[in-house]
Amino acid sequence: MERTLAIIKPDAVRKNVVGEIVAQLTQSGFNVLSLKMVRLTKGQAGAFYEVHKERPFYGELVDFMCSGPVVPIALEKTNAVADYRTLIGATDPAEAAEGTIRKRFASSKGENAVHGSDSVENGRNEVAFFFSEAEIAANAR
Ligand code: RTP
Ligand code: MG
Repeated sequence: MERTLAIIKPDAVRKNVVGEIVAQLTQSGFNVLSLKMVRLTKGQAGAFYEVHKERPFYGELVDFMCSGPVVPIALEKTNAVADYRTLIGATDPAEAAEGTIRKRFASSKGENAVHGSDSVENGRNEVAFFFSEAEIAANAR
């Protein structure tokens, strides 16, 4: 079993599609280990996306991620990281495959509905950024 972190971003929360996105995740075979709704501080969003801090879009990305509540979701599945990236589609919704979460719900390359971990190691670390092992263990099936 592999873990990955999804975050439903502020644009998708504002569009009231949290339920539809969670439904697509569970219908696609992902087990939800834990989820919550939180409002990130600039410090938290900046730390989460620290790998991008030299990129030109970093400031905009941090401001966007703090612009409203987000829904981090700890997911589990065999091959979770790669399968989730396939399910969400390309970063830019204009390039995302039909039926993917970003094609269905994203507005633009910046406001693109969901985050996804990009490696198995980051999947584990990003789940731990938002959830304690106790929170996850309490929800194990
Ligand atoms: P994420 O980390 O959020 O799952 O997205 P990703 O792997 O598909 O894309 P990444 O390159 O890691 O970029 C992180 C997020 O930064 C915003 N972005 N804006 N305006 C732009 O050119 C631009 N490029 C990236 C997006 O919100 C992207 O998801
Ligand atoms: Mg990324």
